[in-house]
Amino acid sequence: MSDTHYQSLGMSNALEKQRARSKRSKLIVIGAVVGLIVLIAIGVVVGVVVTKNNSSNNAGGTKSSSSAGGNSTSGGSSTSGGTSTTKGNDPSNFTKDPNLHKSFYGMAYTPEGALVEFGCTNTLAGVIKDIQLLSQLTTRIRLYGADCNQTAQVLEAIKQTKVDMEVFVGNYVVPSDTPGYQRQRDAIHDAIATYGTDHVAGITVGNEFMLNYLTDHGSQDPNSSVGNEGAAILIADINDTKSGLSSMKLSKTVAIGNSDAGSYFNNQVLSAVDYGMSNVHAWFANTTAEAAAAWVMTFFDETNVQPASLLPNKPKMYIAETGWPTKSSDAGNASNGAATASIKNLQTFLDTFVCQANKANIGYFFFEGFDEEWKDIKFGGVEGWWGLFNKDRTLKDLKIPNCPL
Ligand SMILES: *[C@@H]1O[C@H](CO)[C@@H](O)[C@H](O)[C@H]1NC(C)=O
Ligand SMILES: *[C@@H]1O[C@H](CO)[C@@H](O)[C@H](O)[C@H]1NC(C)=O
Ligand SMILES: *[C@@H]1O[C@H](CO)[C@@H](O)[C@H](O)[C@H]1NC(C)=O
Ligand SMILES: *[C@@H]1O[C@H](CO)[C@@H](O)[C@H](O)[C@H]1NC(C)=O
Ligand SMILES: *[C@@H]1O[C@H](CO)[C@@H](O)[C@H](O)[C@H]1NC(C)=O
Ligand SMILES: *[C@@H]1O[C@H](CO)[C@@H](O)[C@H](O)[C@H]1NC(C)=O
Ligand SMILES: *[C@@H]1O[C@H](CO)[C@@H](O)[C@H](O)[C@H]1NC(C)=O
Repeated sequence: MSDTHYQSLGMSNALEKQRARSKRSKLIVIGAVVGLIVLIAIGVVVGVVVTKNNSSNNAGGTKSSSSAGGNSTSGGSSTSGGTSTTKGNDPSNFTKDPNLHKSFYGMAYTPEGALVEFGCTNTLAGVIKDIQLLSQLTTRIRLYGADCNQTAQVLEAIKQTKVDMEVFVGNYVVPSDTPGYQRQRDAIHDAIATYGTDHVAGITVGNEFMLNYLTDHGSQDPNSSVGNEGAAILIADINDTKSGLSSMKLSKTVAIGNSDAGSYFNNQVLSAVDYGMSNVHAWFANTTAEAAAAWVMTFFDETNVQPASLLPNKPKMYIAETGWPTKSSDAGNASNGAATASIKNLQTFLDTFVCQANKANIGYFFFEGFDEEWKDIKFGGVEGWWGLFNKDRTLKDLKIPNCPL
């Protein structure tokens, strides 16, 4: 397979996402109109109706969460920027930052540069530094894809830093790209053969697959016949991943799951997995930062947790992504309705979501550890600016909640 082949795949994937995004805005507009009609008809319980309407019409997450990173020549160095530095040559001996607290259930992570289209510039040194930082915030991370040797690098970094960390590794499945699925499956297989499963909590097969498939086929209902066609492709990959693992004689069971945008879970896919991870973003529902945490918890419960509990296999549901952007690259995208990108508003979301979600026993992966330059390059707007840390691994002007799990 040539690089050009994968580059063009990456590109078309990006275009699909942009289409998904504009389609989503239309959906949201329709949702808003329907909401108004309902309001006029009923004329009461305004807040409840608006909340419900947003819940059922916003997919919660249009961001391009692919198996990717940025273009960094410096992000890899253990001496550049950031607040955590290896002392001497032992990565397990590193400076802890008193501003960081292990208060997060989990964190969404893509090593910088781990994107075929951007040349796979991710380095082990860069990943070690990231794991040193993330291990001061959480004991769990999730990856999106397995290209660019990122699974092995993350497991090697955990080994060298000796931190308490488990990983939900990812296979980023693109509907028309069977070799891409197989390449990532084999990379995960190799990494598990090398490092074992002590630090592997699960394998997530597919990220926003149904969102992309439905958007491409002009449908919005994940449980429609079109949705089930897409689901069959994904379930074949899920089955293949399961049978590949069962032939490996592992010391520990590894859960197999799937991640998608919040409103795009297909019943048959959820019935085939141990867990589902759902992107739930109040930002795209236009809420204020103050209202965001409650919106996220209500959406997740009504759209994901309750329906999944009715399936025979009762898959465990996680929030795959939730967070708040701190800025926009252009003024026009700095607000989405009442949602405004700022560090202050990310602080508000941190203060109202993290400890509260912990108390409610919600499994969530905060979005995200680090700003991702490649997303800013490709998509602009707020896409690249959701990190707790800047691209150079310095902490933004934030106070990390202190409620260790
Ligand atoms: C950590 O590194 C410092 C600086 O090199 C060294 O003085 C210290 O002994 C090391 N600690 C351990 C536990 O190895
Ligand atoms: C990555 O950075 C290098 C050095 O700044 C630059 O030459 C190259 O064009 C960049 N690549 C991409 C894909 O942005
Ligand atoms: C993948 O990463 C691991 C851990 O750093 C390293 O040992 C291995 O050589 C890498 N493989 C490739 C093909 O780069
Ligand atoms: C996946 O595996 C299940 C259980 O073995 C089986 O019933 C189903 O037909 C398989 N589906 C596909 C698409 O391979
Ligand atoms: C499709 O099924 C899933 C899983 O039961 C459920 O979460 C979702 O709400 C359903 N979607 C629609 C549009 O009916
Ligand atoms: C928001 O960002 C997108 C993507 O960069 C851009 O196409 C669009 O024009 C921006 N919207 C506004 C209102 O500036
Ligand atoms: C959210 O705000 C944007 C503009 O800021 C608007 O285009 C969109 O229709 C709004 N969506 C909802 C659900 O209100």
